[in-house]
Parts: sequence; structure tokens; C-alpha cells
Amino acid sequence: MRSKLVAGNWKMHGGMAQNRLLLDLIVGGTRGLYGADCAVCVPYPYLSQVQSLLQDTHILWGAQNMSQHEKGAYTGEVSATMLTDFACRYVIVGHSERRALYGEDSLTVALKFKAAQSAGLLPILCIGETLEQREANVTEQVIADQLDAVIGLLGVSALAKSVLAYEPVWAIGTGKTATPQQAQDVHAFIRNRVADKDIEIAAGLQILYGGSVKANNASELFSMPDIDGGLIGGASLIADEFIAICRAAQS
Ligand code: 13P
Repeated sequence: MRSKLVAGNWKMHGGMAQNRLLLDLIVGGTRGLYGADCAVCVPYPYLSQVQSLLQDTHILWGAQNMSQHEKGAYTGEVSATMLTDFACRYVIVGHSERRALYGEDSLTVALKFKAAQSAGLLPILCIGETLEQREANVTEQVIADQLDAVIGLLGVSALAKSVLAYEPVWAIGTGKTATPQQAQDVHAFIRNRVADKDIEIAAGLQILYGGSVKANNASELFSMPDIDGGLIGGASLIADEFIAICRAAQS
């Protein structure tokens, strides 16, 4: 049986005082949760603060991006090893905002995935189609290509130590959630595609849904057989919302 994971993606939000308030509430509000892990993926400057606030709690943490390079003359970049200095467990790679706004292609994302795992981090690999692609009926092709970039570079076994996140681009920050069935269909497609290569890895793979998950739609989404939790943007910044979403993931 797969456990569930609810991970907050704070994106470029936060501040020392507000982080402390938010995390205090989240820690208190998710105490005693069973069958689900909770995590927050925060901007780099707050990793140290978040580590010290969360290290003796049940909440896990991570970053939202990293370099594919180990070290070197890459001004402004952050390596996987640097993230491990702050005891990160997760790092998001290939978020659609990185792909669309910063030109990250699927090969770069696969190299980041590899660098993350080499340092002992669990990559949360984001994949998802745009509205145009959905309307052109190429959703499965897009998802397959994004997934195959990682499998092609590293082999299917690499997925054993990772998390996938299906995030339809048209549902991110729009308030327009995929219906549970729409999400389930794509999650099942992803799991079947992995199962064609390795049934056990597919069975154990956590596949999160992301895109306008809120307290009022989380339970329905998380009750679908192939949805193993969520990657939460806006609602992860509101304590009550995030706590309710974490609770919805309990088994
Ligand atoms: P929203 O929950 O704000 O739609 O963002 C989803 C997302 O991009 C999480 O990575």
C-alpha cells in the first residue's frame, strides 16, 4: 500500500516572520496524522530557518529547484549537495513554471533529477500538459515524452526513489481543478506506462496531483485509486487550508 504525501510548493512567497507563524500552525494542526506525510518546499533563503523550525517535527521539507551541475562557475545556481546541507528530503524538478518561464527542457529536467538522486535527495518530478495540448488531444503524448526523458536517461529503476507530480498547466493557479476522473485517467496512464517496464516500481510509485487543490476538493481527488496526494501551491500558504488538505490525505 502506498502512503500519501501532501507537499506545499510555496513558490516565490514567504518571509521570516510569516514562515514561522505558518509553520507553527501547520505543525500543530497536523499532529497525529496517519498514513500521510506532509512537506513544504520553500525558497532557498529560508531553508536554514525551515530546517531549524521543522527538524524535530513530523513535517518534511525541500527546495523547488536546483542545478543539474555538481559545482562550478554557474552564477546564481544552487547544487544538490548544498540542499543536503539543510537536510532537505525533497526537491521539485521540472515544475511547469521552470519549463515555461526559464526554458528548462525535458533533458535538463532529467539531468536535475539525476543530480538530485546522486546527492540523496528525492526528486519530485513534475509533468503536465498545457490547455492547448489537452484540446489537441495530445495529453498522453506530452506526459509520455516528459516521463521518457527521465526513463531514457536513467532507466525505470530511477523512479523507485522519486515522486511524480501530475500538474496540468491549465489547472495551476487558475482555480480550475482537473476533475477527479480527469486526474485519475492521467495518473493511471502514468502508472501503466511505468508498469509496462516494471510492475513493482509502478505499484510503489507515489503520483501526486497538483493544480488548484484546495480544502474543498482534496478528499475527492485523493480518494481516486492512482492519486497519492497533492502538490499544493496557493493553498499551502494558508494554514487552515493546508492542514485540511493534509488531513484529507489520511488513510
Ligand atoms: P496551485 O495550487 O496554486 O494551483 O499551484 C499548483 C502548483 O503549481 C504546485 O506546484
